[in-house]
Amino acid sequence: MIFTIAIDGPAAAGKGTISKAVAAHFGFAHLDTGLLYRAVGAKTLQGTPAIAAARALQASDLETDNLRTPDVAQAASKVAVIPEVRSALVDFQRAFARRLGGAVLDGRDIGTVICPEAEVKLFVTASAEVRAKRRFLELIGKGHDTTQAEVLADVKARDDRDMNRAEAPLKPADDAVLLDTSTLSIDEALQAALGAIAEKLPDA
Ligand code: DC
Repeated sequence: MIFTIAIDGPAAAGKGTISKAVAAHFGFAHLDTGLLYRAVGAKTLQGTPAIAAARALQASDLETDNLRTPDVAQAASKVAVIPEVRSALVDFQRAFARRLGGAVLDGRDIGTVICPEAEVKLFVTASAEVRAKRRFLELIGKGHDTTQAEVLADVKARDDRDMNRAEAPLKPADDAVLLDTSTLSIDEALQAALGAIAEKLPDA
């Protein structure tokens, strides 16, 4: 079976948690496409030019632990505006999306650019303040030294860059189901996502 679930939305809206749980629920493969941009961003912080880094990206580059830092997130958002970086990453994402056995991809442009034919498209969002609070708690939980105001400024800077870039800007596909997680628990958000997906499953 080829069945793609595209989950897009801004930073820290809950896409990652929902995507992992949805993939586990259906036994589908999962690709966090933000990791591709984070891996390229991390290489630029070490001095490799962005386009060269994207063209040479290897699966092993995604396995390092240091891709989840605020510096790498900002670098990822910066390299993500470069059309040649995006195009270097397209084929891998499209092949993953249409693999046999079902796939869940989360990112910014999965439903609009990478897989407009996805059987289900979700756009997961939440207010910037709620997202910043979640990311702040996650970061201090990992021992990062930061403040909620700093995280909010980072989230807003990333939103602005991701939504206003010329190439594949962050926006819901016309046929995406919108899911605002601002006032939902993780379980409520997951149940809402599973409900939207169930309606589109072939034997539903
Ligand atoms: O989802 P994330 O926070 O790990 O993504 C990091 C950055 O990568 C994000 O700010 C923008 C970019 N990105 C993108 O442009 N397109 C995607 N499909 C996924 C991420």
